[in-house]
Amino acid sequence: MASAADFDLFRTSEEHEMLRDAVRSLAEAKIAPFAAEVDEQARFPQEARDALETNDLHAIHVPEAYDGSGADALSTVIVIEEVARVCASSSLIPAVNKLGSMPVQLSGSEELKAKYLGALARKEGMFSYALSEPEAGSDAAGMKTRAVRDGDFYVLNGVKRWITNAGVSEFYTVMAVTDPEKRSKGISAFVVEKGDEGVSFGAPEKKLGIKGSPTREVYFDNVRIPADRMIGAEGTGFATAMKTLDHTRVTIAAQALGIAQGALDYAKGYVQERKQFGKAIAEFQGIQFMLADMAMKLEAARQITYAAAARSERSDPDLTFFGAAAKCYASDAAMEITTDAVQLLGGYGYTRDYPLERMMRDAKITQIYEGTNQVQRIVMARQLLKG
Ligand code: CAA
Repeated sequence: MASAADFDLFRTSEEHEMLRDAVRSLAEAKIAPFAAEVDEQARFPQEARDALETNDLHAIHVPEAYDGSGADALSTVIVIEEVARVCASSSLIPAVNKLGSMPVQLSGSEELKAKYLGALARKEGMFSYALSEPEAGSDAAGMKTRAVRDGDFYVLNGVKRWITNAGVSEFYTVMAVTDPEKRSKGISAFVVEKGDEGVSFGAPEKKLGIKGSPTREVYFDNVRIPADRMIGAEGTGFATAMKTLDHTRVTIAAQALGIAQGALDYAKGYVQERKQFGKAIAEFQGIQFMLADMAMKLEAARQITYAAAARSERSDPDLTFFGAAAKCYASDAAMEITTDAVQLLGGYGYTRDYPLERMMRDAKITQIYEGTNQVQRIVMARQLLKG
């Protein structure tokens, strides 16, 4: 596992901090003003998409060879963190663009990479990831969606559920069963386009949080796609899906960090303004201890997330453990920090006049998606017992 030298290799550089400053300014100017409305109306944050795309921040992980910025994993984490600090729904634009396209980046042919990573980088469409199904959530290998070879084509039939940004995205990485006898080894990955005949979408889910990011079912009704849209070899789709999650669980940790930082920053300002018993409540030790605990948990979560980002950048063998640990730790921290932030505002924290109840609702999903925190523990334990 890690040595001290590993952490030094990937500490935030001046360039990373300049990126953070730039994204923070952009997020505060162009994304924050719409965050409450996006949540209230459960509408897609088009303003955020425009701002991120105009500034080439929508998918900075795409390599330069495919018209992208070629940014490292820590830079992607910083972008997601800073956007989530003001609007968690909007942070799913860069996060899910990475999730959806990572299978192509990791396992796709040169042709697929040039076509689809290029299209993403050039802002021709967003990318979503379609793994889960109504009966296959934690047990992802239990999926039923079928892809049957027919000459130079595959024909897809089935239903995917909980698909983030479904309907908005142009491109979808879809995992489907090509050999039902082989369970995980009989699953293959494909790129499906929104415009392919037979693709349609369910009604948006009515969610507790991240209301600005549409979550819908995706239906495949005899969707006939060219065989060269398969990502990697037949039967490798599940491994590609899992390898992808190793990288992108780090981005969910980043989202959790951002939400928690937003809540801490807001609460910190509030307790210095709010007066009770003749003084600012920040002067009470009970409040100070809460703030200190929140900041301590947040910093610990940030360190494990950045350590995981370093492993993602290098594709280290212990990334599987670190990705799961960072996602699990940071999301639990975000839930605690946002809940405490609501508490610090008392009754005001519980109202929609203040952003903290939104942040608390948004934090909850980070404990659930890209694998529940119970699944993360399975992943970590398997790695520990293997080594
Ligand atoms: N890297 C490479 N290959 C891997 C791998 C990894 N990290 N993990 C598993 N594999 C491969 C292995 O090759 C393994 O085969 P071997 O037997 O040859 O080793 C094969 O996959 C099957 O692995 P398991 O036996 O571990 O599979 P399992 O059925 O026991 O499932 C699991 C393991 C960890 C529970 C997995 O199903 C899982 O992660 N479930 C949660 C799914 C999930 O995270 N869904 C999130 C959906 S996306 C989302 O939420 C996005 C969003 O909205 C933003």
